[in-house]
Amino acid sequence: MIYQGIVNVSAINDFDNVNYLTDCVSAERKNRISKFLRDEDKIRSLAAELLLRHMLSTIYGINVAEIMFGADKYGKPYLIGSELKFNITHSGDYVACAVGDADMGIDIEKISRMELPEVYSVFSGSEREMINALPQDIQADMFYRLWTLKESYVKKTGDGLHCPFDSFSFDLTGDRILLKNSKKTDSENAFFNRKLDGRYWYSVCFPSDERLEDIAEYDLLRVIDAFR
Ligand SMILES: CC(C)(COP(=O)(O)OP(=O)(O)OC[C@H]1O[C@@H](n2cnc3c(N)ncnc32)[C@H](O)[C@@H]1OP(=O)(O)O)[C@@H](O)C(=O)NCCC(=O)NCCS
Repeated sequence: MIYQGIVNVSAINDFDNVNYLTDCVSAERKNRISKFLRDEDKIRSLAAELLLRHMLSTIYGINVAEIMFGADKYGKPYLIGSELKFNITHSGDYVACAVGDADMGIDIEKISRMELPEVYSVFSGSEREMINALPQDIQADMFYRLWTLKESYVKKTGDGLHCPFDSFSFDLTGDRILLKNSKKTDSENAFFNRKLDGRYWYSVCFPSDERLEDIAEYDLLRVIDAFR
């Protein structure tokens, strides 16, 4: 089973008000937070680990004080001493986290206007055609939809940007989202893809034989309360 949780961080504007909570996250994250310049980056990073710890504690009964992290060769974090898997994403007002007993990748991106030709060259030919066929005012929307699907896949494998984004494609024409690698349809992975708040695309890649629970929305102030 894979659980997904999301939290809106806009309730907190001033990092100084939550700085004390950096004692509740890993030393590595505390250090990373101290290096961010903008409050919004500090708040998202802090909220991400608090949400993860809260979900591991409330869903699996794990003692939050015992949680320790490692990272694989491309930086995908994992839990030391536990078979449970997790993945984190953050963008704009949102931080999302998935936890479960099988590997997954998640990605959220705020939809913004962009110079499409410059960035979408990273997509496969069929994906570029799919974007080009759309009226100009909804091309950015499709760009972000595909981008989050692609990120969710490379975050599941842990390859991140080491996997060329034009080496695999998504087919969105049927009932199910299909991933195609070298023209073969991948049957190992399933995808969940949702527009959130009208302004974000959110995707999850997970094993096709696993069950994905609906998104649970957490209240950041309640999550924080659990750490007091
Ligand atoms: C880390 C990466 C896989 C995703 O980055 P991203 O989309 O910018 O950021 P997200 O918020 O979705 O994900 C970051 C989280 O992924 C996790 N992560 C880091 N490396 C990872 C990897 N190799 N595989 C899976 N997850 C990874 C971390 O938990 C990280 O959060 P944390 O630093 O708070 O712990 C990165 O390699 C990547 O693909 N960057 C692309 C950046 C980019 O060009 N974005 C343009 C958007 S249009």
